[in-house]
Amino acid sequence: MSVFLTCRLKNSIGRKKFFNFSSDIVRQLSQQVKQNESFVPFMDVIKFRREEARRSILVQVQSAQSFKELHSYCNSVGNVRQMLHYTVGVEPLNFIVVEFASEKDVTNVLERSSYLEDSQVVPVQSQFLWFRASNRKLPKLKQSKSAILSIENGNQCVTPSEIVNLLSKCDSVSEQMNVLYNSTKLNDLGTRLRFLTARQVENAVRGMFPKAKAYPFGSSVNGYGKMGCDLDLVLRLCDDKVKNDARLMFHCKGLVGSERTASQRNMEAIGDLLQLFLPGCSQVRRILQARVPIIKYYQQLTDVECDLSMANMSGVHMSDFLYIMGSLDARIRPLVFTIRKWASEIGLTNSSPGRWITNFSLTLLVLAFLQKPINSKPILPSLNTLVKLAEPKDSYMTEDGINCTFLRDITKLKTPTENKESLETLLVEFFEFYSQFDFASKALCLNESVAITKPEHCALYIVNPLERGLNVSKNVSMEELDRFRVEARNAAWILESQENKNENWGILSIFENKRKASSVVNFAFANKHGRLVEVSTLFEENTDKPVEYKNASVKKQVENIKNDTKNKLKELQKTNR
Ligand code: GTP
Ligand code: MG
Repeated sequence: MSVFLTCRLKNSIGRKKFFNFSSDIVRQLSQQVKQNESFVPFMDVIKFRREEARRSILVQVQSAQSFKELHSYCNSVGNVRQMLHYTVGVEPLNFIVVEFASEKDVTNVLERSSYLEDSQVVPVQSQFLWFRASNRKLPKLKQSKSAILSIENGNQCVTPSEIVNLLSKCDSVSEQMNVLYNSTKLNDLGTRLRFLTARQVENAVRGMFPKAKAYPFGSSVNGYGKMGCDLDLVLRLCDDKVKNDARLMFHCKGLVGSERTASQRNMEAIGDLLQLFLPGCSQVRRILQARVPIIKYYQQLTDVECDLSMANMSGVHMSDFLYIMGSLDARIRPLVFTIRKWASEIGLTNSSPGRWITNFSLTLLVLAFLQKPINSKPILPSLNTLVKLAEPKDSYMTEDGINCTFLRDITKLKTPTENKESLETLLVEFFEFYSQFDFASKALCLNESVAITKPEHCALYIVNPLERGLNVSKNVSMEELDRFRVEARNAAWILESQENKNENWGILSIFENKRKASSVVNFAFANKHGRLVEVSTLFEENTDKPVEYKNASVKKQVENIKNDTKNKLKELQKTNR
C-alpha cells in the first residue's frame, strides 16, 4: 500500500515493470484526500480499499484472453472500471478481478449469476465466480473493443535470481535497498486480493451480523508487506459504537461459559463455516489454545494464506502506528525490508512460530533504533509525542480498555527530521547499535524512545507500544537473541570492510545462506569492541586480494587484532614445541 502519492507517482516513472499502480487509484485516492496533498491516513486507505472490494468481483476464466468477452458481459450488466489478471498455481488457473463503478453493479451481476446444476455443491453466493465457456445454448459474446486489461499476471513475484541480478547492477548499497523494496513490496493487485478475501468472510456472516466487518491488519496493510505476504484478519461482529439513545434493543443470547471458552466456540463455528461453505477456503486449521485464538486457512482463489481472529481492534491500531512510522520518512520502509530480508535469508526469522524473533518484533527494533539520535539526530518521534498531539477524532479505546489514542494525521507533525544519513549508513548503524545493545538489563520502549530497565527477566524485551505491560518478544530465547547479536555484528563488519564490488556485493553479501553465515561465526572471534572478526580476513596473505578498508578506525582495529593474533600464534607455536 502506498503512502505518499507524490512519491508513488515519481517512482513509477520508468519502472513500470515493478510498479503496478494505476493512475485511477491515484486519482481516486487523491480526490479523497483533497485537503492533504500527499499523506493518506491509514483508516482512510482502509475505508477506500474496503469500498473498492465491495465494487469488485473475482472471476475464474480460461485464459487472460477471456477478458474481452468477460468485459462484454460485465459491461452489459454494470459499468466496468478496471480488469486485472492474475494466475494461481504451477499449472496456472487464470483469474480476473473486475472492478465496477458502483456496488449496485456487483449486486446486479450477482443477481444474474447462478450455480451449476449439481446436488453435490453447496449453493453459496459470493463475489467469487467463474466464467462459463460459450456453448450451443450460450452463444459467444461480441468481444469488447473498449476492454483493457490493466495488468496481466499481476501477482507474479520477482524471482530470487532476478533480485540478485537487479541488486548486483546497482551503484550503491542505498540504491540496492530501494530496489529491493520497490521490486518486492505488495502491489495494488495484491492489496485488492487481500481485501476481497476479507470481504468474503465478512459477507458470509452478514445475514446474522449485518454490521460485521473483517479488517485486514499486519503487513498486508501496514506498508511493510511483500508480495505473497500472509493476511491477518480480525472479524468484528458488530460496531464498537453502542447507541446510548436506542429505545428498542436486540434480544441476544448470553455467552456460554467464560469469555475465553465462548470465544473459542465461536471461532470453531467460524472455522466450520469457512471449511464447509466458503469457496476457495482450504487447509482450515483451528489454533484455539493460543493467547489469541486464530483460524488459519488458505484462500486458493486469491492465493492468500490467512490468519483470522476475532480479537479486539488493537492489531489494526498497531498497524496504523507502524504505517504512520513508515510514512514519516522515505527511508524507513526500504530499511525495514532490507533487515527483514537479511533476517529471513540467514534464518533468524522463520514463518512458523517458535523461539525466534518475528518480523513484527524486528520491525519494532528498526523503529526503536530510528528513534535514537543517529549522528545526533533521530529520525522518528516517540509514540508519546504522537499521543500528546492527538486530536479528539484520534481517540480510540478497545472494548477491553486498550487505549489506542495517538495522532493519525502526520501532516500535523511540524518538524520533519534533520537527519539526512544515507540508507547505507542507517543499515550499518542499525547492525552496530544492536550488536552492542545491553539486552541483559534494558528493554526497548517506543513509547518514550529510550531504553528502559527491563521489567522482568527474559532474553529480549520490547514493550508493546499499545499495551505497555506486555512484551511483544517474550517468545525469543537467549540462543536466538545471541544469534541475532552475532549476525548483526557480522553484517556490520561485512558491510564496513567491503571496498570492491565482487559478485555478491553490498546487501547481497549479508544475505549469504545460513551455512555460510554460521561458518563465519565459528571461525570468528570478538575484538575489543565486541565485533566479530573472521580470522582469515586478518591476514592478507590468506586472501586473494588485499582487503582495503574505507574507514580508518576499522583499519586500525584490524591492524591491532592482526598483531595481537600473530603474537598469540607465536606463543602457541613456542608452547607446542
Ligand atoms: P509478516 O506476516 O511476517 O509479513 O509480518 P506481520 O507484521 O504481518 O506479522 P504477523 O503476521 O506475525 O503479525 C500481524 C500483526 O499482529 C502485527 O503487525 C502486530 O500488529 C500483531 N502482532 C504480531 N505479533 C504480536 C505480538 O507478539 N504481540 C502483539 N501485541 N501483537 C502482535
Ligand atoms: Mg502477517
